[in-house]
Amino acid sequence: MTIDDQKKTAAEAALEYIQNGDVVGVGTGSTANYFIDALATVKGKIDGTVASSEATAERLRGHRIPVMALSQVGDLSLYVDGADEATKHLHLIKGRGGALTREKIVAQVSEKFVCIADQSKLVDRLGEFPLPVEVIPMAQSMVAQQMVKLGGQPQLRTGFTTDNGNIIIDVRNLDIENPVELEREINQIPGVVTVGLFAIRGADVLLLATDSGVEKLARK
Ligand code: 5RP
Repeated sequence: MTIDDQKKTAAEAALEYIQNGDVVGVGTGSTANYFIDALATVKGKIDGTVASSEATAERLRGHRIPVMALSQVGDLSLYVDGADEATKHLHLIKGRGGALTREKIVAQVSEKFVCIADQSKLVDRLGEFPLPVEVIPMAQSMVAQQMVKLGGQPQLRTGFTTDNGNIIIDVRNLDIENPVELEREINQIPGVVTVGLFAIRGADVLLLATDSGVEKLARK
C-alpha cells in the first residue's frame, strides 16, 4: 500500500464517527482532502461543516457540502484532521499546511477529535518534524530568538502567509520531552499566535492506516 493509499484508508475509516445531523469540523492537508472526498459520499447525512482553512472550504464547496461559520454553529460533536507527527499518547505536531490556528480553534470546540494518518506519522517522541509556529509578522525576530533560547533552530517559511495574514516560523531540533509544558511555554511568548503542538488538547482517537488495516488508538 502506498502512503497515499494509507491516507485514503484512514480518511474513509473516519466516516464511522459521523452521526445524522452532525456539523463536522474538517481539517486541512492531503489526508483531510481524502476525508472530504469520502464525506461527499454521505453528505446527505450531515447538516454541514466548519472548515479549518480556505483551501478546505473550497474543496468542500466543490463537492456541494455546506460550509458554515463557526460562530453560526457553536460547539461541534466531531473534528477530523491529519497530523505531521503523532504519539501513542495522541499528542500531535500539526501545521505543515499552515492552517494550525484555525485547526486548533476547531479542535478546541469539538467534543471528539479524530486524527487520521498513515503509519509514517507515528513517532515515539515528537520533534523530528520541524515545529510550525504562527507569528504576528512584527514579532518575527523576537520569537525566533526565543526559539533559539529553547534550543531550537528557527527558520522563516518563505513566501507563505497564513489565512490570518501571519507568518510561519518552522523550528527544528527542539527537544520535546514534555509536549504539554512546551506548548504552554511557547503559547506565552508575545507575538505567537499558535504553536503547532496539539498536546493540551490532543486527539481523542488516532486512526492509523498500516498495510494490514486501520489501527485505532483511543484516549483512555
Ligand atoms: C495542516 C496540517 C495537516 O494536518 C498536516 O500537515 C498533515 O498533512 P497531510 O495530511 O498532507 O500529511 O496540520 O496545517
